[in-house]
Amino acid sequence: MKILAIETSCDETAISVIEASGKINDTHFEICGNKILSQIALHQKYGGVYPSLAKREHAKNLVPVLTETLKESNLLNQESSVLDIPVLKELEALLTREPELFKQLTLFFNTYKAPKIDAIAVTYGPGLEPALWVGINFAKALADIWKVKIIPVNHMEGHIFAGLLKKTKKNVSDITNIDFPILALLVSGGHTELALMKKWSEYKIIGSTQDDAVGEAFDKVARILGLPYPGGPEISRLAQEARDKNLKLEQKLPRPMINSDNLNFSFSGLKTAVLYLTQKINLNTTNKKKIAREFEDAAVEVLIEKTIQAIKIHSIKTLVIGGGVSANIRLRKNLTERIRDDFPKVALSIPENSLTTDNAIMIGVAGYYNSLYKEKKLCEDIIAEGHLTLS
Ligand code: KG4
Ligand code: ZN
Repeated sequence: MKILAIETSCDETAISVIEASGKINDTHFEICGNKILSQIALHQKYGGVYPSLAKREHAKNLVPVLTETLKESNLLNQESSVLDIPVLKELEALLTREPELFKQLTLFFNTYKAPKIDAIAVTYGPGLEPALWVGINFAKALADIWKVKIIPVNHMEGHIFAGLLKKTKKNVSDITNIDFPILALLVSGGHTELALMKKWSEYKIIGSTQDDAVGEAFDKVARILGLPYPGGPEISRLAQEARDKNLKLEQKLPRPMINSDNLNFSFSGLKTAVLYLTQKINLNTTNKKKIAREFEDAAVEVLIEKTIQAIKIHSIKTLVIGGGVSANIRLRKNLTERIRDDFPKVALSIPENSLTTDNAIMIGVAGYYNSLYKEKKLCEDIIAEGHLTLS
């Protein structure tokens, strides 16, 4: 099954084509084409992501990214044909809010014939609703003209599948022999949650943040320290420099809720503790590095302790991590060591670095699993769900 996947939930315009085969828990994926256009440089100026700006950028970039991806996948076939007036009217109605996208897409359809694909997978939530809508309407337009089905995908499910993929050779990955129950630690700019899976497609959120997401805390602390957006990689870099130079803060930052008798998280107090600290000490380069190190240690410690508690309570066999913060080197290293030392029977699945942040490969893979175990959804029933949850 050849799937074209589209991801526009936040600040990356991503499209991929994957060829998927096999049955559940014995699947094989070939990456035929994969493109990501990041808007980070643009949002950096404002210190965060603006939904209307993100939407406008997606609308501008979707057709160029599609063209590139199809080209890389050897699926771009030139054939001039002109869309019928009724089809054109339908397309215009679908894209009334995206006139620029309508113009670009009409030109695209008039230039290239339908590629040989079987389905279109598209993220429908969670995320920024205006940004999600552009991707959904774009997917609907393609599905309509190319006469293929649409598979709506939950972005967080995508992050889980990104973690479960095992690369076997260049551009080929498998998902095989995964043992249940699975625990997913999902850590991104909008989410911090522990999801329990007792079987495929069944999720139960057993812990989540009560305030800020951990990625959001990284971003906010970075802003306090005068570092650019997104803050995660910046904090991580400074923290590593502090470790290399043996720089350490004298006082400890709090580890919120680390000993609470539930699996929930809280990161806003940790961020506030950093804010108070910066008001008391000289914010020179050395102190920034020390704070970054202590903040990262605190955040990672809490994430790992809660994950360990969940592993014990639910007799977990597979632990998977996903989301932007799963790129964090400290988290990856400490979690790997802890599982190896204390839970050698638990299989730990960590996403390839390139699949930690938002991408369309994970949407295609999750889409394939959805097509295996979920009923087909009607195209017109697919709507953007900004607050979509897993359970
Ligand atoms: O999953 P993602 O790309 O987008 C959302 O769905 O939110 O995650 C983005 C988040 C940002 O908050 C960013 O600061 C964080 O992931 N992040 C990191 C690292 N790389 C990205 N946080 C900590 N360490 C990193 N190396
Ligand atoms: Zn994400």
